[in-house]
Amino acid sequence: MNELVIKTKITSELEEREMNDLITLKQQHWGYSVEEHKNWLADNIYPDDNHMLIYRGGGVLLAYLNAVNVDVSINQSMYRMLGIGNVCVDKDNAHAGVGSILMACINAFIKKADSIGILLCKEPLINFYEHSGWQIIRSQSSFVNGQLFSHTIMNFDPNHKYIKEDASLIEVSRNF
Ligand SMILES: CC(C)(COP(=O)(O)OP(=O)(O)OC[C@H]1O[C@@H](n2cnc3c(N)ncnc32)[C@H](O)[C@@H]1OP(=O)(O)O)[C@@H](O)C(=O)NCCC(=O)NCCS
Repeated sequence: MNELVIKTKITSELEEREMNDLITLKQQHWGYSVEEHKNWLADNIYPDDNHMLIYRGGGVLLAYLNAVNVDVSINQSMYRMLGIGNVCVDKDNAHAGVGSILMACINAFIKKADSIGILLCKEPLINFYEHSGWQIIRSQSSFVNGQLFSHTIMNFDPNHKYIKEDASLIEVSRNF
């Protein structure tokens, strides 16, 4: 594979070209219009949230995710975490290890930030995230932005910041 360029930026630092690139990549996987993607970003992603983009040297965006600041209550204890979402890889470059590189990069970012990663996972992708060192948090019930959430919640806690125990209740403050 050619040289990779890994960029981490907050929303307010994204250049117009990077915003267009990430929307075009997201459209490969979530078939909304450009306008709908822009509206979703405006409504759900804040100026100080993080974005990770992996470009091939020549300028093709291979992979993208966002890492948003989120408050998570687990068994009534509150944690500030980084919510990882919109993880995606260019379809022409799938199954070449790019997704694993993206996850290794965000794992390093989470560790350096002395934070905890959380993601809301579709069941078929549990293996992918476990392969990248993430773990399922088991809970009796979970809510995201006040709505009942019935899929899997996973976390990455490199600095052992919270006490792991089976959660009776997880509440995630926002969607991402
Ligand atoms: C999930 C995704 C990011 C993986 O990217 P990738 O670059 O193809 O992943 P890798 O090549 O690093 O795969 C590493 C391993 O993860 C697993 N894996 C990868 N993609 C998978 C998928 N779609 N479903 C289940 N397991 C998967 C495989 O075990 C794979 O190992 P293998 O290639 O030896 O079989 C990519 O398939 C994608 O963009 N999916 C659509 C968007 C999406 O649903 N994102 C999740 C939002 S929460």
